[in-house]
Amino acid sequence: MELRSTIRTAWWHKATVYQVYPRSFADSNGDGVGDLPGITSKLEYLKALGIELIWLSPIYASPMDDNGYDISDYQAVAPEFGTLADFDELLAQARLRNIGVILDLVVNHTSDEHPWFVQSRASKQSPFRDYYIWRKPADDGGPPNNLTSSFGGSAWTLDETTGEYYLHLFSRRQPDLNWENPNVRGAIYQMMNWWLERGIAGFRMDVIDYIGKQVDQAIVTDGPHLHAYLHEMNRATFGSRDVLTVGETWSATPGSALLYSGRDREELSMIFQFEHVTQQWDEIYGKWRSRPFDLIKLKSVLSKWQYALADDGWNALFWGNHDLPRAVSKYGDVKGYPVESAKMLATVLHLLKGTPFIYQGEEIGMTNAPFTKIEQYRDIETLNMHRLHLEAGLSPEDFIKGANENGRDNARTPMQWTSGANAGFTTGIPWIEVNKNYATINAEAAMSDEHSIWNHYRKLISLRKAYPVIIYGRFQSYLDQHPDVLAYTRTLDTQRLTVLSNFSARTITFDLPHELLATGRCLISNYDPVDALKTTMSLRPYEAFAVLAEVAGRDGTKS
Ligand code: GLC
Ligand code: CA
Repeated sequence: MELRSTIRTAWWHKATVYQVYPRSFADSNGDGVGDLPGITSKLEYLKALGIELIWLSPIYASPMDDNGYDISDYQAVAPEFGTLADFDELLAQARLRNIGVILDLVVNHTSDEHPWFVQSRASKQSPFRDYYIWRKPADDGGPPNNLTSSFGGSAWTLDETTGEYYLHLFSRRQPDLNWENPNVRGAIYQMMNWWLERGIAGFRMDVIDYIGKQVDQAIVTDGPHLHAYLHEMNRATFGSRDVLTVGETWSATPGSALLYSGRDREELSMIFQFEHVTQQWDEIYGKWRSRPFDLIKLKSVLSKWQYALADDGWNALFWGNHDLPRAVSKYGDVKGYPVESAKMLATVLHLLKGTPFIYQGEEIGMTNAPFTKIEQYRDIETLNMHRLHLEAGLSPEDFIKGANENGRDNARTPMQWTSGANAGFTTGIPWIEVNKNYATINAEAAMSDEHSIWNHYRKLISLRKAYPVIIYGRFQSYLDQHPDVLAYTRTLDTQRLTVLSNFSARTITFDLPHELLATGRCLISNYDPVDALKTTMSLRPYEAFAVLAEVAGRDGTKS
């Protein structure tokens, strides 16, 4: 008997998700801050691109210490972004265009202005005391242990009112919720159901690998109850609905990914894993010191994840987001080959197995912000790290260099819509400077040029809808040790898609493995179409293309 894993399909396998960072997307009222009516006004743009789902970074009421990742009311919209009515209008307009809306679920922590925390800190007897994580000072009066905040310094802050420390794995204005308290979990599930009832299409779950933490043992990620909580959440909220859920999990391994996204686990649809990002970081200084880009390493990580989730689980595919550098600045060549390299990166990513995520502006090749002074930055992480690193002796110039390469504001400058004032983002003064290159890099120019990066993305998105081999084909990597070429195939039944790409600014000539030789149809390319896969291949700078060929036998195996 032949054993074949049965493909269980889901609507979001074929979709391409677009991440909107509301603050920087489109400003409808001239206050310099993007907002919900602004997003609604750009739905036609997203539809033209082929987008079926958008993920909104937080839109909730918030003092904006961390641009909305510090929520003071989960069931209200931040006034600067609009009202609940604006949100309902966005949902309705999106639905008319077959676009679903995914919200950011930030439930590892709240804002210190959330009423739960206000009551929790008021007294040790408060019924909300146990909603957060409080500990007595250590014997010397210092913090209970050495846990540190991702934004620098201790993860503990002493609260004068009760003389105890509370935990915050991010800023001190982002106290961590106590997930061990069933009332906390119940309140969160209720809130999630309230949004699901409104008609949203799912959740992106912020640092969700933290919720099982065991602080007294200094365990932050992958705590013992993490998967039990996610299973419970699934059952109590979205499990009965056909929605997409994606967890942000910096700690994920292929093993834990199968727990999060395994088809019979009843947890999440998929996760964002960051191994391809962190393997580029410095062992000591993390992302604040740059290291040369190593394609062989990147390929090994991408392949490892493709193989690990080949039969179960599902990959979320992305190069960038609001916390990461711009894809083309990080992995491409902004100076020499901005268009070719941006298209190459998109081709490689969107033809892998998984659901691709596009970060706003990536589709027009937006680049890192070239700031020169610390005063131009707005991000709490960058500003905190600036203080700490300068205290530790780093020169201001070196810090700015690191921040320009890997800081979070790089990707948070306003969306570049036109070549007009402020890139058409606002009629007022933008909350953060617009990248000066908007005169040439903008959506209006991109849409009217048939050879633009934008049209390349549009094509990739439509190919996913037309070719099941892109969605379900078996992945196989080739030329793993080649320092410049990334090559893989996707095979489904009698079809094989071969993807070849050059990650360098030189023409690279190499031999193709014998089994890949074929003539087929070029589905996409960033120079002119190539349809013959020959023994000796030459790829021009940042060239990438995909050839679809018929192969003998099912799954490409000789029968
Ligand atoms: C996630 C978000 C990031 C935020 C942090 C704390 O990593 O993507 O922007 O600062 O969580 O909520
Ligand atoms: Ca506004």
